[in-house]
Formats: sequence, C-alpha cells, structure tokens
Amino acid sequence: MKLEDIDLSDIEFWAKPWAERDAAFATLRRENPIAYFPEPIVEPFPEGPGYYAITKMHDVLEISRHPEIFCSGQGAVSILDMPAEMNEFYGSLISMDDPRHARLRKIVSGTFTPRMLANVLEDVEKTAKKVVDGIIEKGEVDFVTDISMPFPLLVILDMMGIPHSEFDTVLSQSNIILSGGDPDFIPEGVDPISAFLEAGATLAGLLTELAVLRRENPTDDLLSALVTTEVDGEQLSGDELASFFILLSVAGHETTRTALSHGITHLSQNPDQRALLLGEMERVMPSAVEEIVRYASPVVWMRRTLTQDYVLSGHQFRQGEKVIMYYGSANRDEAVFADPDAFNVLRDPNPHVGFGGPGPHFCLGAHLARREITLMFRELYTRLPDIELAGPPVQLRSNFINGVKSLPVSFTPGGLR
Ligand code: HEM
Repeated sequence: MKLEDIDLSDIEFWAKPWAERDAAFATLRRENPIAYFPEPIVEPFPEGPGYYAITKMHDVLEISRHPEIFCSGQGAVSILDMPAEMNEFYGSLISMDDPRHARLRKIVSGTFTPRMLANVLEDVEKTAKKVVDGIIEKGEVDFVTDISMPFPLLVILDMMGIPHSEFDTVLSQSNIILSGGDPDFIPEGVDPISAFLEAGATLAGLLTELAVLRRENPTDDLLSALVTTEVDGEQLSGDELASFFILLSVAGHETTRTALSHGITHLSQNPDQRALLLGEMERVMPSAVEEIVRYASPVVWMRRTLTQDYVLSGHQFRQGEKVIMYYGSANRDEAVFADPDAFNVLRDPNPHVGFGGPGPHFCLGAHLARREITLMFRELYTRLPDIELAGPPVQLRSNFINGVKSLPVSFTPGGLR
C-alpha cells in the first residue's frame, strides 16, 4: 500500500488482512513515522482536530517516559474525546494522571502483588485444566469460543469473587464496550453509544451489589481486598471501584484472549517454532510468551495528549494535540528487532511494548497475563500436543484490539495418551 493510500481512520483499513496492515505500518515507519490523520467521524460526537500516528519505537518510549508532557487524563485515551463523566466512568486508572493516578494505582496495586496473586495463580492453573477438560473429548472446537474467550474471563471472575452465573453478563457487556461498534456485538435495534453506556451501567450495578456484601463480610477475594484496603487512610469510593472493575473486565479479558488466539495461530503456522517450544517447554516458554505478546500486540494503540508545546524527533507539537502510540507498529520496528516479521520463540532480547511503554500506565496485569498464557499453552500442549488449526482465523474488525473472532482447531479426541 502506498503512503497516500493509508488512512488509519477508515474502518475498512482495519478490515484488511493482517499482512496488508503490517505492510502499511512498515511504510509509515519508513516514510512518515509521525503522520497526521483527520479523525474518524462517530455520531453523535463532534469531529475532533485529528491526531498524529506515532509508529516508531523510540518515539513511543519517549512519550511513555514523559507522562507530564504526554498525559492520559485529557479527553480520554481513545482517539475521540469523551465527555468528562464518561471518561471517569470507563477510564478509571488508564485515563488519569498524577496525583490521582498515583493514589488509585497505589491502592489497587497493593492487591496485585505476587503475594496477593498467589491464591489467584493457583486458581488460574485449575481454571486452565477445567477449560481443557471441557473440550478434550470433542476433537474439533472453536478456539476463541471454547478456550481463549472463557479462560481469562473465568480467571477475572474468580479473582474478583464474582459467581460464574454472571459469566454471560460480563462477557456480553465487555464485548460491547470494546467492540468498536462491530455490529456482531451490538444488540439489534440499539445504537452503539446507548449500548456502550448501558453495558457500563450493567457492570457497575453488578459490582456495586457485590461490594456491599464484601464490605460486610470480607472473604479472601480481590474484591474484598479492594473494598477494605486503605492507603494513607483512604479507601476506594464506590464509583472508583465500579469503574476499576469495568477496566479490569475489559482490559484483562479481551487482551489475554487475543494473545492466546494469535499464539496458537502462529505456533501452528510455524511448525519449527512449535517444535522448539514442545521440545523444551519449561526453558522456552518464557521467551515464547514474550514473543506471542510482541507478535500479537493485542492492544493496537493508546492515546496521549500534549500538556505543552514539545519537539519530538524534530516534529514541533503544540499543546492540546493528540498522539496515538501504535504499540503494534513499534513492536515490528526494524530499528529495534532483527527480522521483525519473523515469529521467533527464542527471540532475545525482546524489548516489546505489548504491555505498554515504561511509565506509570504499564499494564497492571502483565504478571497475571504472562502466567495465564504460560499455563494455558502448557496445558494444551501437554494434553493435546497435536492441536492444529482447522481453518483460517477470522479477524475482529476493530482498530483498537487486534482481535480474532473465531478460529477452528482440531486435535485427537481425548488427547494423545
Ligand atoms: C496479554 C494480555 C494483556 C495485554 C497485551 C495488556 C496490555 C496493556 C497495555 C498496552 C496497557 C497500557 C495502557 C496505556 O499505555 O495507557 C495496559 C494497562 C492496563 N492493564 Fe493490561 N494487558 C493485558 C492483560 C491484563 C490483565 C490480565 C489485566 C488485569 C486483570 C490488565 C489490567 C490492566 C490495567 C488495570 C491497566 C491500566 C494501568 C494504568 O493505567 O495504571 N491487563 N494493559
């Protein structure tokens, strides 16, 4: 694709096959690494001023390291500005700046320490087993519907102490929030904005009810810790808790799902890489997991907004301008990665920004996500070592999540014993 034909604001661009999208980003990195695009028009929002697409790694790193200049709290971290109340409600930590970000992150990160996660991680292993138990006799399943979608969602429900009976509700509502308006996820006859607002309200309602119960009778789940933890004499307010839960159920679910779906695809399409992993699973798994996250880059981009004028790589930015950091593009930057389009489970070093750049917003769930990916592939390849693609993956039409909508896989029923 020629430079002048690339329009990142056109949803049709995101419907193009992955290889074409990757090639377009290679063109941007080479020919215009800080490229201006007019904003997509989304009713009923007014058309915004446009944004700069940041596609090279060194620019993404510089932006991430300077949150005081490239902030997250102004407008939103989405391309479109959100009304302030909506940003508060859907954004939680991710669209806050210091000092509010630091305060909230301190409260919630206390509940994400390895010690607090120890119980959760044990449960993750059990959940991975349970998910594989549920499909092992079938021989052919849809990887997304039956494995990569339920698994991380069950982990979050267990972690928060939310009953599995709420699985369908949390799944459908978080799908709506992240769907980018994909008609497959929006109920018929409902406009995408109303569906989005309704989805947030449903998740908040669910959590608020449970929070009341946990305040009265705390258990050992994350929700109890969140409602009782105090930092400097302060607790999370009810609204902060609800929007943090919305963020967790969205941020911690579609992302891991996407990494797992791409992971099985690339391991199946690259039998030499899969043989390396299966040959020495414990040794190769950590670098394979990093490579899966780099290669999949589940979160395609995040926005920052300039708090002041600033020169980045020779480009003069003005206060209030928007920059979109394309993490997926930085992760294929030929200036940083040798042979960046090769899927290499032994890649070392692998300084990817799949979990975000170095800065205050680095993924809070990275430790958990790495464990989830490790445990699921260990479980799958130990019990179903001949699992293979039985058809091509179907792409999600989204500019934000590099998602896979469906992916048929087959294996010997019952596993190879
Ligand atoms: C492979 C899986 C995952 C990927 C690729 C991923 C990616 C990211 C990225 C790129 C950011 C940075 C946002 C920014 O730059 O503003 C982020 C932030 C975040 N992630 Fe993840 N994530 C994953 C899994 C998870 C999980 C499992 C959880 C929790 C259960 C989680 C919770 C969060 C939260 C709360 C933030 C916001 C942190 C802040 O703004 O302080 N993520 N994630």
